[in-house]
Amino acid sequence: MQKIKITVAEKIADRIKAEFPTAEISGADVLGMFEYPPDPAMGDLALPCFKLSKSLRRSPMQIADVIAEGVEGEEIEKVESVKGYINVFLSDSYLAGKTVSEILSAGENYGKNEDGEGKTVVLDYSSPNVAKPFHLGHLGTTVIGHSLRRLFEFSGYKCIGINHLGDWGTSFGKQIVAYKLWGNKKMIDEMGVDGLVALYQRFHEEAENKPEMFDDARAEFTKLENGDPENTELWKWFIGISIEEYKRTYGQLDIEFDYYTGESFYTDKMPAQVEKIRQSGILKIDDGASIVDLSEYNMPPCLILKRDGSTLYPTRDISAAVYRKETFDFDKCIYVTSAGQSLHFAQWFKVVELMGYDWADKLVHVPYGTMSINGAKLGTRSGNVVWLKQLLAMSVEKVLGVINEKNPDLPNKEQVAEEVGVGAIVFNYLSNSRIKDISFDLEEALDFNGNTGPYVQYTYARCCSILAKAGESAKSELTVTAPTESALVKVLAKFPEKVREARNVYEPSVIVRYVLDVAAAFNRFYHDCQILSAEDEAVRNTRIALTAATKTVLGNAFGLICLKKPEKI
Ligand code: ARG
Repeated sequence: MQKIKITVAEKIADRIKAEFPTAEISGADVLGMFEYPPDPAMGDLALPCFKLSKSLRRSPMQIADVIAEGVEGEEIEKVESVKGYINVFLSDSYLAGKTVSEILSAGENYGKNEDGEGKTVVLDYSSPNVAKPFHLGHLGTTVIGHSLRRLFEFSGYKCIGINHLGDWGTSFGKQIVAYKLWGNKKMIDEMGVDGLVALYQRFHEEAENKPEMFDDARAEFTKLENGDPENTELWKWFIGISIEEYKRTYGQLDIEFDYYTGESFYTDKMPAQVEKIRQSGILKIDDGASIVDLSEYNMPPCLILKRDGSTLYPTRDISAAVYRKETFDFDKCIYVTSAGQSLHFAQWFKVVELMGYDWADKLVHVPYGTMSINGAKLGTRSGNVVWLKQLLAMSVEKVLGVINEKNPDLPNKEQVAEEVGVGAIVFNYLSNSRIKDISFDLEEALDFNGNTGPYVQYTYARCCSILAKAGESAKSELTVTAPTESALVKVLAKFPEKVREARNVYEPSVIVRYVLDVAAAFNRFYHDCQILSAEDEAVRNTRIALTAATKTVLGNAFGLICLKKPEKI
């Protein structure tokens, strides 16, 4: 589509220059002004002439009238002037031929671009707090982060995925106290993270009446900080068990990280940065603590060191950013967290700027809204914690029930149920603009007839089954005969633009909505047109090629939103 748009834009620019020799306008200018008309009756591309009116000293209607006359070529069906707009109708067969051959020859590369060549993007996402399982709040950072990673990779960037585990802090002191009091190796080996969580919860219950336990916890953490061998070993063990569990969930989502460098990794890198802050003249002592005053920027102070000299979350983030810049020389470092942390990021980004690092503007925070189930907010402390693995398991079980009922002989049932069940949740989650607070409903997410993951995966499987029955088909010119065919082609042609759009605004939802458009256009075509039983050979081949192109586009798009591609459902 982009190539055709460029050609048409150049033709229009030439026409403008021919009619208005003093006009300074290029094909690129026209390209930037193109709109997609809301209604196909108004053509495929529209150029509003209102902005041109001033410089060309004519009314938009007059300009459109003059220019529309004489824009022609094999890609153009007709051009109309309507109320100050130049409406361009593209040739269906030309567009279909170009688009489908581009899709089929590019295959899994269709939709890629090279905007990021030679550039590196670091993405910090998922980053759960060790010794606790994922709660639903971490679903957002995990799937949005991974989706952004895929979008940047699709644009030619080198991407580095970092899991900035919360693996340091006084909570490990609590964990160690609890383990020494009530835990044992056998219990943790058997229960894994659940065992750690049970211990952690018990600590909080019992400490309510015995506040001195908090002192014990601090003492155990200080021992850990000072390298006490027993505590270090326990701590490493807890982390190992946690990562093992996270990896199971990541596997279900097809996610891998380049590094699991958590907060503890930066321990020895912090003193140098604290010193640098001091030397920049921005470090202040406030009631014994070290802070950077940000009142000038309408923000509360950023805490660097506690009164006892220990470091904090922002200290670790600042040190991590410097380390990443030095190690990866990133063009962007993206952090995906809930919007609740927006102030934290704004504060320490400011500190990095005030420290004199000229790359401070390359730090990007991508926030997302909260998720609730039946209206109940999810937090670790509120009794209403729903673990991600439970939700995924529930969804998979329901899908398996549907398969057992409707298609009991399906090979690999369990795997398909897993791919569809997990996909349903991810798809539902990513379908909203990320900043919106959302309320999750499992029934809705699993509805095969709704705008859901199962629905689009089913559409993909439908393409696969048509293609399996079609066998090899002769390649020939495409003959588009039905309106639903050309409508499908136009949607497929937009994929590369959607990839850029989604990446530019850090919005996987752009891809999700696009996938729904593709599925809707394909299903309209499927209901309207005979594919395998079409009598005319050329018509049949065209429809098979359209099906193959749809499969490619859906498959590529699924890869961008953590959705797997079962070929049979
Ligand atoms: N562990 C933190 C949490 O669960 C998220 C870390 C985000 N990344 C960062 N560099 N601060 O809330």
